[in-house]
Amino acid sequence: MAKKIKTTEERPSLITLTKPSSVIAEQFRTIRTNIQFSMVDAELKTIMVTSAAPGAGKSTISANLAVTMAMQGKRVLLVDADMRKPTVHKTFKLPNQNGLTTLLTEKDVEIKDIAHRTPTEGLYVITSGVIPPNPSELLASNRMSTLIKEFEEVFDLIIFDTPPIIAVTDAQVMASKVDGTVFVINKGVANKEMVKKSKELLEMVKANVIGAVFNRVELSPDTYYHYYGE
Ligand SMILES: Nc1ncnc2c1ncn2[C@@H]1O[C@H](COP(=O)(O)OP(=O)(O)OP(=O)(O)O)[C@@H](O)[C@H]1O
Ligand SMILES: [Mg+2]
Repeated sequence: MAKKIKTTEERPSLITLTKPSSVIAEQFRTIRTNIQFSMVDAELKTIMVTSAAPGAGKSTISANLAVTMAMQGKRVLLVDADMRKPTVHKTFKLPNQNGLTTLLTEKDVEIKDIAHRTPTEGLYVITSGVIPPNPSELLASNRMSTLIKEFEEVFDLIIFDTPPIIAVTDAQVMASKVDGTVFVINKGVANKEMVKKSKELLEMVKANVIGAVFNRVELSPDTYYHYYGE
């Protein structure tokens, strides 16, 4: 799967929610369909989104993908596993005192105490929580693996937002724990060498890369012609 998301003028943080008939929302539905095709053979319940470099659009894509999946009637959980630069709480305008780090470090805390309901039916969010000193260790822990299993019991699909894969090991750690990885490439930011390096890092942990999303792609005016309502 290789799909494209165009550049928008406005901040596209939750565009699938605010403009469901826009070109971008349509592009997210195409990505959803493609992911669902990848699910035919292997059951994909846990997906993560990463990129080579910072700022590629991982958080934007994971949030909008989560909305798009939930809009189809699935019970979806979006988890902010980017404990370096968490943004999910900002996107969904939620407090961030408690989150993934709370579930990983405190006893007797349940998912239902930490997961936030969102205005989108079926979509739940777990923010990062307080930024810990040791994110990669926390993500690599057995507790994290157990937690992922617990998420799977409650939700149809779990989407993890993660840091870029080159700078820190967090995304690599997560890739070894989830069923599928979506790789975001931003033409303006990523170069060939970095994408190659990312591919090696993902192969090292036997990540199942289910697709690449090219973000901020300029579409020709012809392409707009096929869509209405934007
Ligand atoms: N298709 C797009 N068109 C216009 N702006 C975009 C698009 N995708 C993302 N952006 C903007 O680019 C910035 C970076 O996006 P985002 O936060 O999703 O990237 P990220 O990969 O999660 O970054 P980080 O590595 O810092 O976590 C944000 O301000 C976002 O609104
Ligand atoms: Mg981000």
